[in-house]
Amino acid sequence: MMEAFGSTRDGEHAHVWTLRNSHGVEARITDWGATLVSLVVPDRDGRGADVVLGYDDVGAYAAGRAYFGATIGRCANRIRNASFSIDGRRYVLARNEGENSLHGGVRGFDKRLWRTAEGSPPSTASITLAYESPEGEEGYPGTLSVRLRYTLDDDDSLTLDYDAVTDAPTHVNLTNHSYFNLRGTGEGMGDIQAHRLCIAGSGYTPVDATLLPTGIVAPVDGTPFDFRAAKPVGADIARADVQLERAGGYDHNFALDFAVDVPAEERSSGAPAFAAELCEPESGRRMRVFTTEPGLQFYSGNFLDGSEHGKGDRAYGFREGLCLETQHFPDSPNQPSFPSTLLRPGVTYRQTTIYRFDTVAD
Ligand code: GLA
Repeated sequence: MMEAFGSTRDGEHAHVWTLRNSHGVEARITDWGATLVSLVVPDRDGRGADVVLGYDDVGAYAAGRAYFGATIGRCANRIRNASFSIDGRRYVLARNEGENSLHGGVRGFDKRLWRTAEGSPPSTASITLAYESPEGEEGYPGTLSVRLRYTLDDDDSLTLDYDAVTDAPTHVNLTNHSYFNLRGTGEGMGDIQAHRLCIAGSGYTPVDATLLPTGIVAPVDGTPFDFRAAKPVGADIARADVQLERAGGYDHNFALDFAVDVPAEERSSGAPAFAAELCEPESGRRMRVFTTEPGLQFYSGNFLDGSEHGKGDRAYGFREGLCLETQHFPDSPNQPSFPSTLLRPGVTYRQTTIYRFDTVAD
């Protein structure tokens, strides 16, 4: 089902599509930023609630700064000094966070109107959106053609399949930036600190004062970053730790164990592997994340401060949502030891990420 989703100030008309399965799971997706607008999932008593943050119409998405549910590109996360070199040539990107580039630049893929892909008509089970990023957009070389298919299955999985091709060497690192609160994002949602989180990563990439990785992969063992066994998000978040202090909580990339031995030039290991599990004790909702990507940025919503008003004009407060962004590591274009984000003509970028829902007993 397609509906109008309002217009931006520049007169771009957006739409929203609804995917549904036979268990009452419902996902709404807009062509503005190929954004996941809402995701209704039942709790352990079968009551559905929307578990992602977002806005009511496209005008708010166009003005917003939190990347709720959006597709991020060309490169997710930060690139130092907003520049990189390919084959000896330096490219300067749009700066939008101090000296650095964040989430694709001033106007990344999250702030573009995508179109429905030719030959893939939307249905209640899936929708494919496409975007062609012109040569030089936000400073990136090459024309990049991107597609993203959202599929909702009867096993309560929402699958995101991305592909991209370029006509000149460029860097690509796509992700989805949904903020989850499995208690439901309506009345009385509260913060996410009681959510139990498990991340299949024995290493993470520590950051400097500007939240850029220093280049090393450090062991999580004995640190607040050890989520190898599930624990509440809030368990160690207030610990005296320079990494947590720099980010105001968690805002770090984890190196997923299954991908550690994949050679840097191979973009992924093939089949999606288990990356993380999130469980909300009150509702019993559980989400498991599977991906082909080597990294997972866990962001605990530290910049939410009530200034972003979301669906139903609700002010989203401190840590009321968390992100689990499957991606390549931040600043990969400038970090030769990280898995490569370089895409050359003739090669197809592919990524699959699955969010699978069920419930757990009391
Ligand atoms: C990512 C970044 C955070 C922040 C959010 C958006 O998760 O790592 O630092 O920029 O996006 O607010």
